[in-house]
Amino acid sequence: QSILVLHGPNLNLLGTREPQHYGADTLASINGKLVGMGEERGIPVECFQSNREYELIERIHATLADGTAYIVINPAAFTHTSVALRDALAGVKKPFVEVHLSNVHAREAFRHHSYFSDLATGVICGLGARGYEYALRFAMDQLQPA
Ligand code: DQA
Repeated sequence: QSILVLHGPNLNLLGTREPQHYGADTLASINGKLVGMGEERGIPVECFQSNREYELIERIHATLADGTAYIVINPAAFTHTSVALRDALAGVKKPFVEVHLSNVHAREAFRHHSYFSDLATGVICGLGARGYEYALRFAMDQLQPA
């Protein structure tokens, strides 16, 4: 049983991209932290980023056969646009937590709607990179209750 962390478009630029919204941590440092947290609990954590909707959908479909028990996803801009990515998550029926680095509700109106939130177990936004850590901790607790 493993956990998949999915990052949507432009998150490969973290560290330099609009740090006032997204912080100074790079994606590599965030992923390194998450994988380390998984190692401490003996739970494999795989991180995958893509700028392509198609690749994210294909990666979600692959969870049907790869042992993924929980998903943590920041769909990034696809949050506000992608029925296809939403349908992929609904189709594989894997529980997931939705994460956003920034507080999307304090930003432009077009960021207030998410195609994912009503399907998610829960949503974390505005807590920066630590939002991923809290989401992962929650997912690990679901797989390994204390
Ligand atoms: C984001 C918020 C989205 O509105 C934006 O398009 C992103 C990142 C966040 O993590 O705060 O790319 O998902």
